[in-house]
Amino acid sequence: MALSLSSSSSSHFHHFAASSDPNVPPIGSLQLLHPPHVLSSGVNYSRIRGCSVVKPMNAQSKRNDSLVPFVANTLAPEVAERTEIVDYDGLAKDLENASPLEIMDQALGKFGDDIAIAFSGAEDVALIEYARLTGRPFRVFSLDTGRLNSETYQFFDAVEKQYGIHIEYMFPDAVEVQGLVRNKGLFSFYDDGHQECCRVRKVRPLRRALKGLRAWITGQRKDQSPGTRSEVPVVQVDPVFEGLDGGIGSLIKWNPVANVHGKDVWNFLRTMNVPVNSLHSQGYVSIGCEPCTRPVLPGQHEREGRWWWEDSKAKECGLHKGNLKQGDVPQLNGNGNETPSVNDIFISQNLVNLNRTGMENLTRLDNRKEPWLVVLYAPWCQFCQAMEGSYVELADKLAGSGVKVGKFRADGEQKQFAKQELELGSFPTILLFPKHSSKAIKYPSEKRDVESLTAFVNALR
Ligand code: ADX
Ligand code: SF4
Repeated sequence: MALSLSSSSSSHFHHFAASSDPNVPPIGSLQLLHPPHVLSSGVNYSRIRGCSVVKPMNAQSKRNDSLVPFVANTLAPEVAERTEIVDYDGLAKDLENASPLEIMDQALGKFGDDIAIAFSGAEDVALIEYARLTGRPFRVFSLDTGRLNSETYQFFDAVEKQYGIHIEYMFPDAVEVQGLVRNKGLFSFYDDGHQECCRVRKVRPLRRALKGLRAWITGQRKDQSPGTRSEVPVVQVDPVFEGLDGGIGSLIKWNPVANVHGKDVWNFLRTMNVPVNSLHSQGYVSIGCEPCTRPVLPGQHEREGRWWWEDSKAKECGLHKGNLKQGDVPQLNGNGNETPSVNDIFISQNLVNLNRTGMENLTRLDNRKEPWLVVLYAPWCQFCQAMEGSYVELADKLAGSGVKVGKFRADGEQKQFAKQELELGSFPTILLFPKHSSKAIKYPSEKRDVESLTAFVNALR
């Protein structure tokens, strides 16, 4: 259970204009002052103070090293603390069927000036519209990586004007960017993955921003990434980042559109006549940095337009790395080897369990009598586990059709071979060995439902 202490009053929030209020410290200007707060039960929680007359962060006496002027140090101690314990797992369940507007209203109501919307410059402008509709003041921040499309910068400007707000931009540390670019060039992410650049340009600035807040609001949706976001709750204790009070558990993450489908976000934007990034009309769906984002074709998953040279498991840049759980990284035993001690998956009489020799044979065309679909997997991988049902169903469906369906456990000592010979990037990797082509074709999509896999097989067998 994720518990947090939360403010019980929100009446003061209306006294503060959004990000333009001089009494509201700019995001990212505050230092971490408190150690983690841990309940005696061992449950991490965040201490969120509330009072009826003044914003909580200014009521803390220790913050004299802040860049922000104090406005409320005359507050009587007895009214300074009024807290309640919030069970955020329970709240997430209660709000599972709530509208984004209701969720947004609760989020802003509970946290006032201590919460901000993380705005990427894409369709998550819907969050700003929902915030406006609540009638409450709200703050918006954005991570300016320095590599965004000019259309995105123009869009930020349009949004600021439309809503009469100042987006609180966060910039990467100049020395860090300089080090990265002088060392490895401007496009190192194409060679060795996006994580390093994202860490410098996005994750660290985000970390700084969040340390000045007690909660944040994101536009994450379950349908954005079947691989990594399928379980995003509408509200959670942030599993990764720290808030103002410090320590894991000191920050609440709200995802008001977690359960909304992409097409319904677009229906909402159209209906409400909300301005949108002009890149959308050029085929872009999910939008990030210019060198790492491209348009997608009709029917392609939006995530395929992001970091397309990498495999699906890596498609979290670190902003939401709490979405990556044990499936992303193999568990290690004491010798540093991957743990083999989990139950096997993809069990079906219609699925052939291939060994190394079987795979080597398959890679030679002259040994291939029929087309084969093979998943390279590791049983501990959560993304493999997540597609188990659809892959087994596919194998049953294709039984007797002339297409063979197999699996090859490619972790541990087989990993090197699978990487070199079978294009293994991350788990799961799905390969089609067509009947008349020597080369295996890698399944390029994150959509692992039966229909998508069937379409792939039928188009290429
Ligand atoms: S990312 O992690 O892959 O880049 P994505 O583009 O899907 O994230 O966006 C998910 C949510 O993360 C957005 O709705 C937004 O809340 C937040 N986010 C992403 N990029 C930014 C950014 N540059 N600035 C602020 N928030 C962002
Ligand atoms: Fe760097 Fe690309 Fe990540 Fe932007 S998305 S921070 S350019 S790696």
